[in-house]
Amino acid sequence: MQMTQALEQGFCDYLGWLRTRRSVRRFTPQPVSEALLRTVLETATWAPSAHNRQPWRFAAAHSAAARANLAHAMAEDFRRDLLADGLPVDEVEAQTARSISRITNAPAAVLLCLDVEQEDRYPDPRRQQAERLMGVQGVALAGAYLLLAAHAAGLAGVWMCAPLFAPQSAQRTLNLPHAWVPQALVLLGYPAAAPAARPRRPIDEVTLIL
Ligand SMILES: Cc1cc2nc3c(=O)[nH]c(=O)nc-3n(C[C@H](O)[C@H](O)[C@H](O)COP(=O)(O)O)c2cc1C
Repeated sequence: MQMTQALEQGFCDYLGWLRTRRSVRRFTPQPVSEALLRTVLETATWAPSAHNRQPWRFAAAHSAAARANLAHAMAEDFRRDLLADGLPVDEVEAQTARSISRITNAPAAVLLCLDVEQEDRYPDPRRQQAERLMGVQGVALAGAYLLLAAHAAGLAGVWMCAPLFAPQSAQRTLNLPHAWVPQALVLLGYPAAAPAARPRRPIDEVTLIL
């Protein structure tokens, strides 16, 4: 049976539900309880990881102060990069202000980190690099689980890549252990609106069946 037929006939509710997750960037002011946040994070830890090493670490910026500190610290790096790119100052200020307000207006934010102390050590850079990549892949899977767990809990979120461009500022501001290398920030909250689905490339364009 074709998947589309199966979906239409209601045989694949879960597969259909997976397709309803959206990246949500605007939230209602309703807070996310710490208990719910913990449940979502705990669910994220059921993601697979290489050797079951579970290299993800979560720095949950649950307080408004933590989110504001993080947003402003990362914005400094963002501003520096945009100015170095030669953007006009007012454009730089508009973009950094937008970045700050997105983070400070989210009811919760989780900084996804990779604990590099979980890595196996190799004598050669080729395998060490593969090991690093394996860890990053594990953290990304935990992030995907986190977004889906949030969706299942009636929350919504969006993955932001900003910490990749400001890892040291994010780490320093939240006073994280040195081995926690920031990978991404997931904003979470109750959706202010249901965004339309963004298009997907046709499966035949992205698949080779060999
Ligand atoms: C690795 C990664 C980085 C992303 N970075 C950002 C980001 O910095 N800002 C943002 O608004 N959305 C970001 N997104 C969200 C994507 O824009 C979004 O997933 C995509 O447009 C598809 O929309 P959907 O998630 O609603 O299906 C990122 C997603 C991923 C997986």
